[in-house]
Amino acid sequence: MQNVLSESAGYTVSIEDEIAYFDPDTAKSWYLARGYDGQVLGFIRNFAQNSEWSLAELYVKRSIQNRGHVVYSLLNSFKGTVSFPAGHRLRIDILSHDVELNEILGKEGFSEKCQTFLYLERDLNVRTPQFKSESISNTDAASVSETLSHLHPVSETEAQKWIESKTIRGIRCEGKVVVAAQIYDSDDALEVNRIATHEKFLRRSFAKKLMEQVFAEASSLQKRKVYLKVEDVRLPAISFYKSIGFIENQDKRQVWHSRWY
Ligand SMILES: CC(C)(COP(=O)(O)OP(=O)(O)OC[C@H]1O[C@@H](n2cnc3c(N)ncnc32)[C@H](O)[C@@H]1OP(=O)(O)O)[C@@H](O)C(=O)NCCC(=O)NCCS
Repeated sequence: MQNVLSESAGYTVSIEDEIAYFDPDTAKSWYLARGYDGQVLGFIRNFAQNSEWSLAELYVKRSIQNRGHVVYSLLNSFKGTVSFPAGHRLRIDILSHDVELNEILGKEGFSEKCQTFLYLERDLNVRTPQFKSESISNTDAASVSETLSHLHPVSETEAQKWIESKTIRGIRCEGKVVVAAQIYDSDDALEVNRIATHEKFLRRSFAKKLMEQVFAEASSLQKRKVYLKVEDVRLPAISFYKSIGFIENQDKRQVWHSRWY
């Protein structure tokens, strides 16, 4: 399953984090298609957000025979068990260059929207000064949740779970964590999965200082680079990343199509 998830995203994905993504209290369901040998061939996962909309993702391995059949069997088992109230919006994300899935969803009556994610990376060849990171503990959960919610809503429970998994880095000011980032370890790199500065502490170099700590941590772990993905409409964040040495790797740009009923 881990392989299929990572293949669908184009980068290493932790199953735990994928499952916990979005509001942990909302209903999530998984529909798996398996081959005769039991291998997972593809999936639909559905995150019911609220009565107005839900998000799903559809992925089916490229290299299999009868791929169209697998897609339709997933869609049919999904539609056969899920029912939405009138006016509900279901968004399904797929990889943009997956022409076959695009066509099938088009025939199924979905409409389309595009989101583009830039892949930014920063080499660590340049020597970075050493910093000591602040230790973030469970008592910081409320503050981390508030600060990260400047990007997307993050509950205190989620923040606590991420702190326990040691993926949260942050800097304190006036008794609270005013900038926080979530970091993943992936092969020869560290990924910044999310970062946000508290709205009242913007443009005071907090995010820059935190990223310098992340660079130092990555260097000490012998990583080659730090990378992240950012949606192309987040112009302030892109300016920020470029100001601290990130450059775009255009080969890794991802475009996702979302479709609504
Ligand atoms: C992106 C973000 C984390 C930057 O935080 P910050 O603490 O305000 O950034 P810093 O003060 O360290 O900025 C360092 C430099 O980045 C650039 N920068 C930061 N914010 C910028 C903005 N809004 N517009 C243009 N450049 C910006 C500037 O060059 C700045 O240096 P300067 O203030 O001396 O001009 C913050 O704007 C944020 O939380 N945004 C919402 C969440 C988000 O989009 N996160 C990224 C998701 S991928």
